[in-house]
Amino acid sequence: MANTSEYALSLEGIDLYYGYVRALNNINLNVAPGECVALLGDNGAGKSTLLKVISGAHKPSHGTIKVHGKAVEFHNPKDSANAGIEMVYQDLALVDAQDTATNLLLGKEILRKGILGMLGFVDRKAMREEAKREVAQLGVKIDTLTRPVEMLSGGQRQGVALARSAVRVAKKAQGILLLDEPTAALGYEQKVMVEQMIKRMSANNIAVVLVTHDLPLAFSTADRMVVLNRSRKVADIATKDTTNDQIVGWITGARDSMENM
Ligand SMILES: Nc1ncnc2c1ncn2[C@@H]1O[C@H](COP(=O)(O)OP(=O)(O)OP(=O)(O)O)[C@@H](O)[C@H]1O
Ligand SMILES: [Mg+2]
Repeated sequence: MANTSEYALSLEGIDLYYGYVRALNNINLNVAPGECVALLGDNGAGKSTLLKVISGAHKPSHGTIKVHGKAVEFHNPKDSANAGIEMVYQDLALVDAQDTATNLLLGKEILRKGILGMLGFVDRKAMREEAKREVAQLGVKIDTLTRPVEMLSGGQRQGVALARSAVRVAKKAQGILLLDEPTAALGYEQKVMVEQMIKRMSANNIAVVLVTHDLPLAFSTADRMVVLNRSRKVADIATKDTTNDQIVGWITGARDSMENM
């Protein structure tokens, strides 16, 4: 695709420094609507940092972010949410003291028209029903949605965080979903459900960036693989054009960086 406005997300020359540490070095990345890009790399390569730049949690030191062809500047995750971007953080940003249902609804309101059609109010019931459906679809077993999140297991928490973002992004036109290690805490069956969820998102034209150490998951869901190695992009290749061995080579640094990315 030559025209960047055809991409849901376009990063150009993104740099990010944590103090003197350069966590991202001149990163270019394009994701088309309905495309799933796996973002791979060893611990500390810069994957989470890159997602946080896209989600507005971190401001890049240099570079441009475009969403559907339009340059944007995010000052916080609310800005990116307004642009249609949802992120599931590696460290699961749930509010411990609140119950599961409240976490599922947090910051996302389905408005119901008031009697005069003027004063909308939050339709919590509709939202809860929707969130419940998504939790069920992900196969997460939570006996009650009114239990505080701090009492859930790691896998249940991950399920709630995923369900929340899936519900939100599905509501948006031209949504973009960022997943940082979504299956790290999950059992086998739940992993399969997440795999299906990602495919469902792609089929609904949502652009997905999936950070994972699970290469089989990446191969089964991603159209394209992007590998970071020590803050640089070293590979950007269609899944059908690469192999597990090649990807491992780029991740470890045994294989030279690709040219012309
Ligand atoms: N808040 C921070 N302040 C300072 N340095 C940070 C911060 N967050 C990350 N880093 C550093 O930036 C680099 C990239 O970290 P990042 O979290 O993006 O890695 P990652 O690819 O997500 O790794 P992992 O697979 O372990 O999650 C690392 O060297 C890390 O130590
Ligand atoms: Mg990370």
